[in-house]
Amino acid sequence: PRQDEYDLGATTLTTWLLKQELKGTIDSEFAVVLSSIALACKQIASLVGRAGISNLTGLAGEENVQGEAQKKLDVVSNTVFSNCLRSTGRTGIIASEEEEFPVFVEETFSGNYVVVFDPLDGSSNIDAGISVGSIFGAYLPSEECSLEDAEDGETLMNNCVLNVCQPGKMLKAAGYCLYSTSTVLVLSVGDGVFGFTLDPLIGEFVMSHPYMQVPESGKIYSFNEGNYDMWDDDVKAYIDSLKKPEKWEGKPYSSRYIGALVGDFHRTMLYGGIYGYPGATNAPNGKLRLLYECAPMSFLAEQAGGMGSTGKERVLDIDPTAVHQRVPLFIGSKKEVEYLESFTKGK
Ligand code: AHG
Ligand code: MN
Ligand code: MN
Ligand code: MN
Repeated sequence: PRQDEYDLGATTLTTWLLKQELKGTIDSEFAVVLSSIALACKQIASLVGRAGISNLTGLAGEENVQGEAQKKLDVVSNTVFSNCLRSTGRTGIIASEEEEFPVFVEETFSGNYVVVFDPLDGSSNIDAGISVGSIFGAYLPSEECSLEDAEDGETLMNNCVLNVCQPGKMLKAAGYCLYSTSTVLVLSVGDGVFGFTLDPLIGEFVMSHPYMQVPESGKIYSFNEGNYDMWDDDVKAYIDSLKKPEKWEGKPYSSRYIGALVGDFHRTMLYGGIYGYPGATNAPNGKLRLLYECAPMSFLAEQAGGMGSTGKERVLDIDPTAVHQRVPLFIGSKKEVEYLESFTKGK
Protein backbone atom coordinates (compact mmCIF):
# COMPACT_ATOMS: atom_id res chain seq x y z
CA PRO A 1 0.00 0.00 0.00
CA ARG A 2 2.83 2.44 0.78
CA GLN A 3 3.93 2.09 -2.82
CA ASP A 4 0.83 3.98 -3.97
CA GLU A 5 2.40 7.16 -2.64
CA TYR A 6 4.41 7.31 -5.85
CA ASP A 7 3.22 7.58 -9.39
CA LEU A 8 5.73 5.47 -11.32
CA GLY A 9 7.19 7.33 -14.26
CA ALA A 10 6.29 10.71 -12.80
CA THR A 11 8.50 10.86 -9.71
CA THR A 12 12.08 11.80 -10.43
CA LEU A 13 14.95 11.68 -7.96
CA THR A 14 14.80 15.46 -7.78
CA THR A 15 11.11 15.57 -6.85
CA TRP A 16 11.61 12.69 -4.40
CA LEU A 17 14.47 14.54 -2.67
CA LEU A 18 12.32 17.67 -2.39
CA LYS A 19 9.51 15.57 -0.91
CA GLN A 20 11.91 14.05 1.62
CA GLU A 21 12.97 17.55 2.57
CA LEU A 22 9.33 18.59 3.09
CA LYS A 23 8.75 15.48 5.20
CA GLY A 24 11.81 16.37 7.26
CA THR A 25 13.66 13.09 6.53
CA ILE A 26 16.61 15.11 5.14
CA ASP A 27 17.66 18.76 5.31
CA SER A 28 18.30 20.95 2.27
CA GLU A 29 22.06 20.65 2.63
CA PHE A 30 21.79 16.86 2.46
CA ALA A 31 19.49 17.05 -0.58
CA VAL A 32 22.26 18.96 -2.37
CA VAL A 33 24.86 16.34 -1.39
CA LEU A 34 22.65 13.50 -2.64
CA SER A 35 21.90 15.25 -5.94
CA SER A 36 25.60 15.77 -6.50
CA ILE A 37 26.14 12.03 -6.02
CA ALA A 38 23.40 11.35 -8.58
CA LEU A 39 25.16 13.72 -10.99
CA ALA A 40 28.45 11.83 -10.47
CA CYS A 41 26.63 8.55 -11.20
CA LYS A 42 25.17 9.92 -14.45
CA GLN A 43 28.60 11.06 -15.57
CA ILE A 44 30.17 7.70 -14.68
CA ALA A 45 27.35 5.84 -16.49
CA SER A 46 28.17 7.77 -19.62
CA LEU A 47 31.92 7.13 -19.27
CA VAL A 48 31.37 3.40 -18.65
CA GLY A 49 29.10 3.14 -21.70
CA ARG A 50 31.69 4.79 -23.95
CA ALA A 51 34.81 3.19 -22.43
CA GLY A 52 35.49 0.90 -25.40
CA ILE A 53 35.43 3.74 -27.93
CA SER A 54 37.07 6.49 -25.91
CA ASN A 55 40.32 4.81 -24.82
CA LEU A 56 39.05 4.27 -21.27
CA THR A 57 39.59 0.51 -21.01
CA GLY A 58 42.70 -0.99 -19.45
CA LEU A 59 45.04 -0.04 -16.67
CA ALA A 60 45.98 3.41 -15.40
CA GLY A 61 49.49 2.26 -14.54
CA GLU A 62 49.31 2.95 -10.78
CA GLU A 63 48.35 0.90 -7.73
CA ASN A 64 45.95 2.09 -5.03
CA VAL A 65 46.83 1.90 -1.33
CA GLN A 66 45.45 -1.64 -1.15
CA GLY A 67 47.85 -2.85 -3.80
CA GLU A 68 45.21 -3.22 -6.53
CA ALA A 69 46.21 -2.22 -10.07
CA GLN A 70 43.97 0.75 -10.85
CA LYS A 71 41.99 0.71 -14.07
CA LYS A 72 41.78 3.96 -16.01
CA LEU A 73 38.11 4.14 -15.11
CA ASP A 74 38.84 3.66 -11.37
CA VAL A 75 40.89 6.84 -11.49
CA VAL A 76 38.51 8.84 -13.69
CA SER A 77 35.43 7.82 -11.67
CA ASN A 78 37.19 8.82 -8.47
CA THR A 79 37.86 12.27 -9.90
CA VAL A 80 34.27 12.63 -11.09
CA PHE A 81 32.83 11.63 -7.69
CA SER A 82 35.19 13.83 -5.77
CA ASN A 83 34.63 16.88 -8.03
CA CYS A 84 30.86 16.54 -7.86
CA LEU A 85 30.94 16.36 -4.05
CA ARG A 86 33.38 19.25 -3.72
CA SER A 87 31.46 21.52 -6.04
CA THR A 88 28.34 21.38 -3.84
CA GLY A 89 30.07 23.22 -1.01
CA ARG A 90 28.11 20.99 1.37
CA THR A 91 30.59 18.17 1.93
CA GLY A 92 33.19 18.39 4.70
CA ILE A 93 35.24 15.20 4.36
CA ILE A 94 35.39 12.58 1.63
CA ALA A 95 36.98 9.14 1.71
CA SER A 96 37.40 6.87 -1.30
CA GLU A 97 38.70 3.40 -2.12
CA GLU A 98 41.17 5.07 -4.45
CA GLU A 99 42.65 7.54 -1.92
CA GLU A 100 44.94 6.49 0.91
CA PHE A 101 43.61 9.10 3.34
CA PRO A 102 40.28 10.89 3.74
CA VAL A 103 40.34 14.36 2.25
CA PHE A 104 39.19 17.49 4.05
CA VAL A 105 37.34 19.66 1.54
CA GLU A 106 38.72 23.22 1.71
CA GLU A 107 37.21 25.21 4.53
CA THR A 108 35.95 28.16 2.54
CA PHE A 109 34.00 25.78 0.43
CA SER A 110 32.85 23.05 2.73
CA GLY A 111 29.72 21.92 4.50
CA ASN A 112 29.22 19.27 7.08
CA TYR A 113 28.56 15.92 5.52
CA VAL A 114 31.09 13.10 5.52
CA VAL A 115 30.86 10.97 2.36
CA VAL A 116 32.56 7.60 1.76
CA PHE A 117 32.55 5.96 -1.66
CA ASP A 118 33.73 3.21 -3.96
CA PRO A 119 33.70 5.18 -7.23
CA LEU A 120 33.82 2.11 -9.46
CA ASP A 121 32.98 -1.31 -8.07
CA GLY A 122 33.78 -4.46 -10.02
CA SER A 123 36.21 -2.61 -12.23
CA SER A 124 37.79 -5.85 -13.46
CA ASN A 125 34.54 -6.28 -15.47
CA ILE A 126 34.94 -3.08 -17.47
CA ASP A 127 36.94 -4.31 -20.44
CA ALA A 128 34.43 -7.11 -21.07
CA GLY A 129 31.41 -4.80 -20.95
CA ILE A 130 29.96 -6.52 -17.86
CA SER A 131 28.07 -4.75 -15.05
CA VAL A 132 29.89 -2.41 -12.69
CA GLY A 133 28.66 0.08 -10.11
CA SER A 134 29.39 2.79 -7.55
CA ILE A 135 28.71 2.59 -3.79
CA PHE A 136 28.38 5.43 -1.29
CA GLY A 137 27.49 6.25 2.30
CA ALA A 138 27.03 9.57 4.11
CA TYR A 139 27.44 10.52 7.77
CA LEU A 140 27.09 13.63 9.85
CA PRO A 141 30.38 14.74 11.40
CA SER A 142 31.28 12.75 14.49
CA GLU A 143 30.28 14.51 17.70
CA GLU A 144 33.43 13.32 19.38
CA CYS A 145 35.84 15.36 17.33
CA SER A 146 35.44 18.67 15.63
CA LEU A 147 37.67 19.70 12.76
CA GLU A 148 37.83 23.19 14.24
CA ASP A 149 39.88 21.83 17.15
CA ALA A 150 42.67 20.81 14.79
CA GLU A 151 45.68 23.10 15.20
CA ASP A 152 48.05 21.38 12.81
CA GLY A 153 47.96 19.21 9.72
CA GLU A 154 48.47 15.96 11.57
CA THR A 155 45.62 16.55 14.02
CA LEU A 156 43.41 17.57 11.11
CA MET A 157 44.25 14.31 9.32
CA ASN A 158 43.56 12.24 12.45
CA ASN A 159 40.26 14.02 12.98
CA CYS A 160 39.30 13.35 9.36
CA VAL A 161 39.99 9.65 9.90
CA LEU A 162 37.90 9.64 13.11
CA ASN A 163 35.02 11.35 11.31
CA VAL A 164 35.08 8.79 8.55
CA CYS A 165 35.47 5.74 10.82
CA GLN A 166 31.93 5.73 12.19
CA PRO A 167 29.92 2.52 12.57
CA GLY A 168 27.44 1.81 9.78
CA LYS A 169 24.48 2.22 12.13
CA MET A 170 25.28 5.97 12.14
CA LEU A 171 24.80 6.25 8.36
CA LYS A 172 22.37 9.00 7.34
CA ALA A 173 22.14 7.66 3.79
CA ALA A 174 23.60 4.89 1.68
CA GLY A 175 23.20 3.75 -1.88
CA TYR A 176 24.65 2.32 -5.02
CA CYS A 177 24.35 2.87 -8.72
CA LEU A 178 24.40 -0.08 -11.12
CA TYR A 179 25.73 0.49 -14.65
CA SER A 180 24.22 -2.37 -16.61
CA THR A 181 21.46 -2.95 -19.17
CA SER A 182 20.05 0.12 -17.48
CA THR A 183 21.52 2.55 -14.96
CA VAL A 184 19.77 2.13 -11.61
CA LEU A 185 20.37 4.27 -8.53
CA VAL A 186 19.23 2.64 -5.29
CA LEU A 187 19.08 4.85 -2.23
CA SER A 188 17.97 4.97 1.38
CA VAL A 189 17.88 7.91 3.76
CA GLY A 190 16.73 5.66 6.60
CA ASP A 191 13.07 5.37 5.63
CA GLY A 192 12.97 2.47 3.20
CA VAL A 193 14.88 1.80 -0.01
CA PHE A 194 14.03 3.42 -3.35
CA GLY A 195 15.27 2.56 -6.83
CA PHE A 196 15.46 5.06 -9.70
CA THR A 197 16.20 4.12 -13.30
CA LEU A 198 18.01 6.60 -15.52
CA ASP A 199 15.88 7.64 -18.49
CA PRO A 200 18.63 8.47 -20.99
CA LEU A 201 16.22 10.45 -23.18
CA ILE A 202 15.59 13.05 -20.50
CA GLY A 203 18.76 12.51 -18.45
CA GLU A 204 16.78 12.04 -15.23
CA PHE A 205 16.58 9.29 -12.65
CA VAL A 206 12.93 8.23 -12.58
CA MET A 207 11.44 6.21 -9.72
CA SER A 208 11.10 2.57 -10.73
CA HIS A 209 11.32 0.64 -7.43
CA PRO A 210 9.52 2.30 -4.47
CA TYR A 211 10.01 0.74 -1.01
CA MET A 212 12.20 -2.16 -2.19
CA GLN A 213 12.02 -5.27 0.00
CA VAL A 214 14.50 -8.10 -0.24
CA PRO A 215 12.53 -11.39 -0.38
CA GLU A 216 12.62 -13.18 2.97
CA SER A 217 14.37 -16.16 1.38
CA GLY A 218 15.69 -17.09 -2.05
CA LYS A 219 17.53 -20.06 -3.47
CA ILE A 220 20.51 -18.32 -5.07
CA TYR A 221 23.99 -18.12 -3.56
CA SER A 222 26.65 -15.77 -4.84
CA PHE A 223 30.19 -16.61 -3.67
CA ASN A 224 33.55 -16.85 -5.48
CA GLU A 225 33.79 -20.58 -5.04
CA GLY A 226 37.30 -20.67 -6.50
CA ASN A 227 38.36 -19.79 -2.95
CA TYR A 228 36.59 -22.83 -1.42
CA ASP A 229 39.75 -24.61 -0.25
CA MET A 230 40.86 -21.51 1.67
CA TRP A 231 37.58 -21.00 3.57
CA ASP A 232 36.85 -22.06 7.15
CA ASP A 233 35.26 -25.47 7.58
CA ASP A 234 31.94 -23.96 8.75
CA VAL A 235 31.60 -21.92 5.53
CA LYS A 236 32.50 -25.00 3.47
CA ALA A 237 29.87 -27.05 5.33
CA TYR A 238 27.28 -24.31 4.67
CA ILE A 239 27.99 -24.19 0.92
CA ASP A 240 28.02 -28.01 0.75
CA SER A 241 24.56 -28.07 2.32
CA LEU A 242 23.13 -25.73 -0.34
CA LYS A 243 24.12 -28.22 -3.03
CA LYS A 244 22.31 -31.24 -1.55
CA PRO A 245 19.12 -31.84 -3.57
CA GLU A 246 17.65 -34.09 -0.85
CA LYS A 247 17.81 -31.19 1.60
CA TRP A 248 15.87 -28.80 -0.66
CA GLU A 249 12.98 -30.82 -2.09
CA GLY A 250 15.06 -32.14 -4.98
CA LYS A 251 16.38 -28.79 -6.23
CA PRO A 252 19.63 -27.42 -4.84
CA TYR A 253 20.47 -23.71 -4.73
CA SER A 254 21.57 -21.95 -7.93
CA SER A 255 24.97 -20.30 -8.14
CA ARG A 256 25.29 -16.80 -9.66
CA TYR A 257 28.43 -14.65 -9.48
CA ILE A 258 29.14 -11.53 -11.52
CA GLY A 259 32.22 -10.41 -9.58
CA ALA A 260 30.85 -6.92 -9.00
CA LEU A 261 29.30 -6.51 -5.57
CA VAL A 262 26.81 -3.93 -6.88
CA GLY A 263 25.49 -6.30 -9.54
CA ASP A 264 25.44 -9.35 -7.29
CA PHE A 265 23.79 -7.37 -4.48
CA HIS A 266 21.19 -5.76 -6.76
CA ARG A 267 20.10 -9.19 -7.99
CA THR A 268 19.94 -10.38 -4.40
CA MET A 269 17.74 -7.40 -3.46
CA LEU A 270 15.31 -8.22 -6.25
CA TYR A 271 15.34 -12.04 -6.39
CA GLY A 272 16.43 -12.91 -2.84
CA GLY A 273 19.25 -15.23 -1.80
CA ILE A 274 22.64 -14.57 -0.28
CA TYR A 275 25.88 -12.90 -1.33
CA GLY A 276 29.04 -13.90 0.53
CA TYR A 277 32.69 -12.94 0.64
CA PRO A 278 34.12 -15.03 3.50
CA GLY A 279 37.51 -14.78 5.16
CA ALA A 280 40.10 -17.22 3.79
CA THR A 281 43.45 -18.59 4.92
CA ASN A 282 45.27 -16.00 2.82
CA ALA A 283 42.87 -13.16 3.75
CA PRO A 284 41.21 -13.73 7.14
CA ASN A 285 38.88 -10.74 6.67
CA GLY A 286 38.01 -11.46 3.07
CA LYS A 287 38.34 -8.80 0.41
CA LEU A 288 35.51 -6.31 0.77
CA ARG A 289 36.04 -3.01 2.55
CA LEU A 290 33.88 -2.15 5.55
CA LEU A 291 33.47 1.60 5.04
CA TYR A 292 32.53 1.95 1.42
CA GLU A 293 31.34 -1.55 0.49
CA CYS A 294 30.04 -3.63 3.42
CA ALA A 295 28.49 -0.92 5.62
CA PRO A 296 26.46 0.95 2.94
CA MET A 297 25.20 -2.36 1.47
CA SER A 298 24.27 -3.65 4.94
CA PHE A 299 22.37 -0.42 5.65
CA LEU A 300 20.38 -0.95 2.44
CA ALA A 301 19.83 -4.65 3.19
CA GLU A 302 18.43 -3.85 6.64
CA GLN A 303 16.29 -1.01 5.31
CA ALA A 304 14.82 -3.53 2.85
CA GLY A 305 14.10 -6.14 5.53
CA GLY A 306 17.27 -8.20 4.94
CA MET A 307 20.50 -8.67 6.89
CA GLY A 308 24.21 -7.93 6.63
CA SER A 309 26.53 -10.04 8.79
CA THR A 310 30.19 -10.98 9.10
CA GLY A 311 29.03 -14.46 10.08
CA LYS A 312 29.69 -13.53 13.72
CA GLU A 313 28.13 -10.08 14.12
CA ARG A 314 25.96 -7.40 12.53
CA VAL A 315 28.05 -5.38 10.06
CA LEU A 316 26.41 -2.07 11.09
CA ASP A 317 27.62 -2.53 14.70
CA ILE A 318 31.33 -2.67 13.82
CA ASP A 319 33.40 0.31 14.92
CA PRO A 320 35.90 0.80 12.09
CA THR A 321 39.55 1.03 13.10
CA ALA A 322 40.98 1.94 9.69
CA VAL A 323 39.68 3.59 6.52
CA HIS A 324 40.39 0.61 4.26
CA GLN A 325 39.58 -2.11 6.82
CA ARG A 326 38.20 -5.36 5.39
CA VAL A 327 35.54 -7.60 6.92
CA PRO A 328 33.87 -10.86 5.82
CA LEU A 329 30.41 -10.20 4.38
CA PHE A 330 27.24 -12.30 4.17
CA ILE A 331 24.28 -10.29 2.99
CA GLY A 332 20.79 -10.65 1.57
CA SER A 333 17.57 -12.39 2.52
CA LYS A 334 16.98 -12.60 6.27
CA LYS A 335 16.34 -16.36 6.35
CA GLU A 336 19.38 -17.10 4.18
CA VAL A 337 21.77 -15.03 6.30
CA GLU A 338 20.34 -16.58 9.48
CA TYR A 339 20.89 -20.05 8.01
CA LEU A 340 24.53 -19.15 7.22
CA GLU A 341 24.95 -17.84 10.78
CA SER A 342 23.65 -21.13 12.14
CA PHE A 343 26.93 -22.59 10.80
CA THR A 344 29.32 -19.73 11.63
CA LYS A 345 28.06 -17.98 14.75
CA GLY A 346 29.54 -18.86 18.13
CA LYS A 347 32.00 -21.25 16.49
P1 AHG B 1 36.55 -3.05 -6.63
O1 AHG B 1 36.44 -3.28 -8.11
O2 AHG B 1 35.83 -1.80 -6.17
O3 AHG B 1 37.97 -3.11 -6.12
O4 AHG B 1 35.73 -4.16 -5.86
C1 AHG B 1 35.94 -5.50 -6.23
C2 AHG B 1 35.20 -6.40 -5.32
C3 AHG B 1 33.70 -6.51 -5.59
O5 AHG B 1 33.16 -5.73 -6.55
C4 AHG B 1 33.51 -7.93 -6.04
O6 AHG B 1 32.35 -8.45 -5.51
C5 AHG B 1 34.73 -8.64 -5.58
O7 AHG B 1 35.73 -7.67 -5.52
C6 AHG B 1 35.14 -9.72 -6.49
O8 AHG B 1 36.26 -10.32 -5.99
P2 AHG B 1 36.82 -11.69 -6.56
O9 AHG B 1 37.30 -11.41 -7.93
O10 AHG B 1 37.89 -12.07 -5.60
O11 AHG B 1 35.66 -12.67 -6.54
MN1 MN C 1 39.47 -1.77 -6.53
MN1 MN D 1 34.28 -2.43 -4.81
MN1 MN E 1 36.24 0.19 -6.73
